[in-house]
Amino acid sequence: MTERTSIHGQWSNRLMFILAATGSAVGLGNIWKFPYITGENGGGAFVVVYLICIAIVGVPIMMAEIMIGRRGRQSPINTMRSLAKNENAHPAWSLLGWGGVLAGFFILSYYSVIAGWALSYVFRTAVGIFNGVTADGAQNIFSDLVGDPERLLAWHTLFMVMCMAVVARGVRHGLEKAVRILMPALFVLLLVLLAYAYNTGAFQQGLEFLFTPNYTKVFFDCKVINEVESCTFNGEPVLVAMGHAFFTLSLGMGAIMVYGSYMPKQNSITSSAIIIALLDTVVALIAGMAIFPLVFANGLEPSSGPGLIFQTLPIAFGAMPGGQIFGTIFFVLLVFAAWTSGISLIEPAVAWLVENKSMSRLRASIWVGLSVWFLGLGSVFSFNVWSGEEYQLFGKTFFDLLDYLSANIMLPLGGLLIALFAGRYISRSSSVDEFNMGDGFIYKIWRLVIRRVTPVAVVIVFLNATGAIDWLLSKNLPW
Ligand code: PFF
Repeated sequence: MTERTSIHGQWSNRLMFILAATGSAVGLGNIWKFPYITGENGGGAFVVVYLICIAIVGVPIMMAEIMIGRRGRQSPINTMRSLAKNENAHPAWSLLGWGGVLAGFFILSYYSVIAGWALSYVFRTAVGIFNGVTADGAQNIFSDLVGDPERLLAWHTLFMVMCMAVVARGVRHGLEKAVRILMPALFVLLLVLLAYAYNTGAFQQGLEFLFTPNYTKVFFDCKVINEVESCTFNGEPVLVAMGHAFFTLSLGMGAIMVYGSYMPKQNSITSSAIIIALLDTVVALIAGMAIFPLVFANGLEPSSGPGLIFQTLPIAFGAMPGGQIFGTIFFVLLVFAAWTSGISLIEPAVAWLVENKSMSRLRASIWVGLSVWFLGLGSVFSFNVWSGEEYQLFGKTFFDLLDYLSANIMLPLGGLLIALFAGRYISRSSSVDEFNMGDGFIYKIWRLVIRRVTPVAVVIVFLNATGAIDWLLSKNLPW
């Protein structure tokens, strides 16, 4: 029997799949978001929960997504539709593909604005603006940038055009070429930054913040009333940690699924998923270890939010010998990391348009890119003209809302449904066949985890964050 392949093409080999999926996973999530949400959520205890989520939720779901994608060999929407049919499940499962496309639009719309910050920092660093800069100076330069909607819009537009250009060129000529050199280079540069952080004098303090868990401080809200301390559980940081595990591994929205659909049949899904998750985690931890020492050495606040790396790293580059060059290269690589993630955020939608509307890749990329660009205006304005309270909902700007909704709700929900579909609707014989590893020990563990552990974990975290569990406990129900 000849092997079924996707009409969009196939990766040249397993290494290319791993590089592309790692390119999707490693991005702003690791270097920009992980440090600042760790800072906002109190450090070590948050990191521990995040690592647990990567292991028991992330890796099994990544295996499931690749497996589903490779079995369906189409865009996530069509893959879900045809697998649901083959496995006698309800056709409504294709909605999972639609939800993923929507999540991709939401995420890329603000992701592109942040990538625009990185683009602008390439030029600022290159011309030496940061040479000898103080912490205050770096903060001012950052506020000037985000306060100026025109500049943000220009960079956002440039980044979107970059993503459209690669996606339009397709799997081999576009996606593969981009990731081959850039990912290893980024890794080396992060190590240079780590070496610098090691010499700041606050390395120890940075590591303690990142790796010493204080569960009470992070997960409980404690008040002293009449000299008695009473604490309630706060599920929010756990939700943020789980949401970030999905975000950082690009799970729950079809990006890894669509990359899986281009994976050759003989390649191992399990080992690929483990390698991708490991690389992604290592990059995030190194970024944290490079950034927090700088935060403490310069008397900055770890909880200063989305601007964290843009206010800390320039200080390091401004002070180190050759910082102008290293800094420029670093921001170039950050842009590339964001770029290889950005393309995977729109690939599911583009693949669907090509399949169903017979569009060329170029036209499909332009349509999708334009829509995302338009939505991105909301995030551009969130940092300036729409930053006021009158433009906020639940105390969140448009940017905050999109980020919260997509990362903390849509991705985990998508992941939960993927786990249910892969574990309960796809027959055992189909998944054994697709994984290509026999019905042995590793397969049995995966099946147990994806059917029982992962869904339960996601549901508990959701209930926790909404306060439902606290509420039930406070009712003193008989069970
Ligand atoms: N994983 C990317 C990052 O960490 O920056 C972001 C991302 C890409 C999320 C693709 C979701 C996705 F489908």
